[in-house]
Amino acid sequence: MLNRWQTGPVLNASALDQLVYQSRLVGEEESLVLWGGGNNSVKEPALDLLGQPVEVMYIKGSGSDMKSIVPAQYPAVRLDWVRPLFERDEMSDEEMVAYLARCLMDPASPRPSIETLLHGFLPHRAILHTHTDAILSLTNTVGRKETVRECFGDRVALVPYHLPGFKLSKAVGLAAQQNPDAKALILMNHGLITWGSDPQEAYDSHIKLVTEAEEFVKAKRNTRFPAADVPAPPHPAVEPETIAPILRGLLSADKPVILEFDDSPETLEFLNRPDLATATQVGPATPDHLLYTKRFPLVVELLETEPEGIHNNLAQALGRYATAYQEYFAANAKSGETMLDTLPRIVLIPGVGMWTLGKDARAARIVADIYRHTIRIIADAQTLGGFATLSDADAFNAEYWPLELYKLTLLPKEKDLARRIALVTGAASGIGRAIARRLAQEGAHVIVTDLNGDGAEMVAAEIRQNNGLNRAISFKLDVTNQEQVEAAFKAACRTYGGLDILVSNAGIAPVGAIDKLQLREWDLSLAINTTGHFLVTRATLDILKKQGIGGSLIYNATKNVTAPGKDFGAYSVAKAAEAQLCRIVAIEGGEFGIRANMLNPDAIFEGSSLWSEDLKAKRAAAYGISVQELPNFYRQRNLLKVEVTAEDVAEAALFLAGPRSAKTTGAMIPIDGGVKEAFPR
Ligand code: NAI
Repeated sequence: MLNRWQTGPVLNASALDQLVYQSRLVGEEESLVLWGGGNNSVKEPALDLLGQPVEVMYIKGSGSDMKSIVPAQYPAVRLDWVRPLFERDEMSDEEMVAYLARCLMDPASPRPSIETLLHGFLPHRAILHTHTDAILSLTNTVGRKETVRECFGDRVALVPYHLPGFKLSKAVGLAAQQNPDAKALILMNHGLITWGSDPQEAYDSHIKLVTEAEEFVKAKRNTRFPAADVPAPPHPAVEPETIAPILRGLLSADKPVILEFDDSPETLEFLNRPDLATATQVGPATPDHLLYTKRFPLVVELLETEPEGIHNNLAQALGRYATAYQEYFAANAKSGETMLDTLPRIVLIPGVGMWTLGKDARAARIVADIYRHTIRIIADAQTLGGFATLSDADAFNAEYWPLELYKLTLLPKEKDLARRIALVTGAASGIGRAIARRLAQEGAHVIVTDLNGDGAEMVAAEIRQNNGLNRAISFKLDVTNQEQVEAAFKAACRTYGGLDILVSNAGIAPVGAIDKLQLREWDLSLAINTTGHFLVTRATLDILKKQGIGGSLIYNATKNVTAPGKDFGAYSVAKAAEAQLCRIVAIEGGEFGIRANMLNPDAIFEGSSLWSEDLKAKRAAAYGISVQELPNFYRQRNLLKVEVTAEDVAEAALFLAGPRSAKTTGAMIPIDGGVKEAFPR
């Protein structure tokens, strides 16, 4: 492993800044820590409230991520209050957390890591602790002690497996005391601790030992996986995009989930192993991972090729997984724990790929990242004599660790569209863009599509920036092009596992009196304003029916559906067909819990490119007014005398997309400030 430390960036820096620098270097290296894992500390002299000298320890705050950490995420704890705890024999997690809260130099600082005592009980100034893959490959083996000794001799001291907390901290402190010459501590099934007189020394030592472990494993390894040259098993010719919505539907029976799919060569190679069914059922690489991945992935041999058969195949496999989980819970629960859900977090289908799931794309990505590392750890541990990990009881205690369960109760209420996936057409501009932004704000994952691919990507990038990792993707999509439509919906299934909401919005507004209208313009309006809606509707319904968990389709029509305007024939006729399509979808979708509703906006100028100079001039002429008078004309013509905006339409779309309109289908909502000629009747 590359030692990335450069003296320049932290020359003359404070100990805390050196610690932050160390943390960032460690966080960048995925095979050292993943997603919030690992922690580090440095001990420093300080002055207490009364100006008395005290020794404090800056320790990583609980839940912060090493790759993006900032100094404020390092609470300082008083060591003169932490060290005496070493004399105790026991301390519950709750007592420890409460005690540490009172050791903070600044009560407003974040909660210190659950491993604070572990750092405090070590005498060294700077400490670094990670869950590095290379060390997990050594400690997750059948003959773990011998394997570690063979690699490091007696330069390291071993600490038996304990859950993080007082017991582990005490064991760490004792191991350091009893092995004063040790260069590091290796925690069984957990990770590595190194130290030094400053963060650089602790880091250097860490990288050196990890590199030694990597080289040790490499020397033992003949091929990356023992089964690498086994040919791929025959598998049904089913695309992952067909499987994904069926799988997502089954996994979403209680609460919808977001899926991530991985069919990278390394993952497929792992899935080809003849011993896959056993190698994957040993357990997680560390207790830390278990909280994300559950104990075992589900392995499914897909025997069917048609959706119904795939559904049955997957449903049976999930049923078996749930039964096994219930049995494991019954065998290990002892103090009134409530059983967590029985769903796997990872589904492996040989020949196809790996799906991971979570409440959002970020959560699904964390599981995928962890399991990709687990795959390497399993393979490496097997070259060292066999993968072995936590016992049933240890795994259960880690999964039902009260501190983690308590954290679940603190989670904020989920947003209306959390766990949902929406595809919006014509979303690079105007109303579509406003809707995409609003749905994302309320928790949806959005496939931003438009004829203008660059514009769509700009909107998707903005959504990711404001709402989080992988929360939007873009797709260049002409709604009149069947192949592009199919490709965009496949992208939705591949990226997120399916779809819940369609906002069929893309449209154009050709103008002209019927007797002057060119056939070309008429055809184009029908192609985009009618057939385009049909194509995206058909693709949506196909996915929603495979999922079997309902869905919502929203059509952006126009006030012209109920009150057509002069010289707007090609537009109004095509939009009336769109409205009728919406009603048919409501009729056909009802029995599947699929809703379809439409929005009828009027006169939205701000941000809309529909209102070209040409259109403005023609509409102004149709009403016998000047172009400048147009916005005011539309305002004065509505009952509320207001200007209608794209954001107003987005609010109505949000209502129709989510649970607040759960009992509404086949409806039409005007967003026009009140135009009495256009009242739906
Ligand atoms: P806009 O022109 O700002 O946005 C429409 C988007 O659709 C553009 O980004 C465009 O690139 C895209 N688009 C055009 N043809 C496409 C195709 N074949 N495939 C995919 N994307 C395509 O227009 P605005 O105002 O946001 O309109 C959106 C929808 O709202 C349209 O259906 C329109 O009929 C409807 N509407 C607009 C009103 C207004 O006053 N702006 C009033 C009533 C309805």
